[in-house]
Amino acid sequence: MVLRKFVDALPIPSVIKPCGTHKGKPFYKVQMLEALHQFHRDLPETRVWGYNGMVPGPTFEVEQNHPIYVKWENKLPLKQFLPLDTTIHGAHDTPEVRTVVHLHGSPSEPDSDGFPEAWFTRDFRQTGPDFVKETYYYTNSERAAGLWYHDHALGITRLNVYAGLAGLYFIRDKHEQSLPLPKGKYEVPLVVQDKSFNPDGSLFYPKQPDNPSPDLPCPSIVPAFLGDTITVNGKVWPFLKVEPRKYRFRLLNASNTRTYRFKLSNNHSFYLIGTDGGLLARPIKVTSLDVSPAERMDIVVDFSELEGQKIILQDAFETGNPVGEIMEFKVTKPLSRPDRSKVPPFLSHLPKIPLDQVRKIRRITLNDSEDEFGRLMLLFDDKTWMDPPTETPLLNSVEIWELVNQTPGIHPIHIHLVNFRVIGRFTANGTLLPPLPADFGLKDTVLINGGETVRLIMKFQPYSGKYVWHCHRLEHEDHDMMRPLIVLPDKDHKDDPQDPHNH
Ligand code: C2O
Ligand code: CU
Repeated sequence: MVLRKFVDALPIPSVIKPCGTHKGKPFYKVQMLEALHQFHRDLPETRVWGYNGMVPGPTFEVEQNHPIYVKWENKLPLKQFLPLDTTIHGAHDTPEVRTVVHLHGSPSEPDSDGFPEAWFTRDFRQTGPDFVKETYYYTNSERAAGLWYHDHALGITRLNVYAGLAGLYFIRDKHEQSLPLPKGKYEVPLVVQDKSFNPDGSLFYPKQPDNPSPDLPCPSIVPAFLGDTITVNGKVWPFLKVEPRKYRFRLLNASNTRTYRFKLSNNHSFYLIGTDGGLLARPIKVTSLDVSPAERMDIVVDFSELEGQKIILQDAFETGNPVGEIMEFKVTKPLSRPDRSKVPPFLSHLPKIPLDQVRKIRRITLNDSEDEFGRLMLLFDDKTWMDPPTETPLLNSVEIWELVNQTPGIHPIHIHLVNFRVIGRFTANGTLLPPLPADFGLKDTVLINGGETVRLIMKFQPYSGKYVWHCHRLEHEDHDMMRPLIVLPDKDHKDDPQDPHNH
């Protein structure tokens, strides 16, 4: 069905407030609820699953080093409404829908990280094997950054997130607040997700391919989902009226599979000022930006010379297709006051890249494979989720990971707990490629194009314990491009004086 473009205004997800205190810290309660959501004025209401029933969920705004507790309550129906005809990791053995929340980009303790097996079903009726609890602790110890929270239940993350379980989480710090960047209503979050709708307004998600053999317990999952409609902040192809001045946009690609090459229809340049882990050292002037699932980009667009114009945010990978357009900026609002905001030439101090401290170099392949039934799988080093852990760095140690993509497709690779730095991008035959703009700054997710090798460096801190790392194409993550990350306590190091278990 064809939906009109740019007829609905861009909504801004509301900011959630604490509902009390818990152990002396602000306490938030979020309920996962089934709800009806209006994605477009011409579309009947759509059944969604949202945090507090909202799509995207409510936005958290927290200050650095001000920890909070969040109780994540599952009040969803017991049955998934999207096609779930797989038995991957027993996602079907538990008849009730499993959920667990991960705060993406945060260094949380293992039992507040949303371990995929820490799932629980409605009202905590059934629970997974590990770390299961509803109330999570977030230290907010990192620098100012745009994080996001989303479902992470083993084997069904692709469906839960597609159904709507995702939201934003901003950490603020004094340094960022002291900069003259656009603020308040001139700082706008943009959560981009592709979706497909049935004519009755319901969400469409493809059925799994047919069983290759009648002997199989279940078919393969689809290896990719590409929607035919683009939503921003839960509206289909919205518009935003802007003043002729600078705006800061906090972009999140929360799509299951789709990587975007964002650009403006008039080829206007804009500034990249931050990535996953906060501000860059210096702004980078760009005219397009490749953003894979789960990556966040902090950009400043200056509309001051575009008064009266309509500028479309486009995806240059899809030029000419309906999905090649994302939203429209109408520069039709009068300037309410002079624009004193600036993009300063120096943005933030980034920690030095600890190349001299590297303790281990790992080389890990990204490959496609088949499971015992001949079903397609995407894997790291040919290993599945169930294989014994192999990525077991020591706490406080520095490692280089060389990720070798032997497939033709894009894989956005996400490592929990850490921020890493991208230190090299190479072709299959070893030629150094220029870095992508998004390779700068502190990262937790990196886009790896088909055939490329990417080198990352990171320090495993501040916690030891059981985490995960995975591809953030959710269809890959679910089958089976996800592996444990076990950070081992380092006996040579004294315990951190800020023992995480003292709170
Ligand atoms: Cu955004 Cu492990 O996930
Ligand atoms: Cu992948």
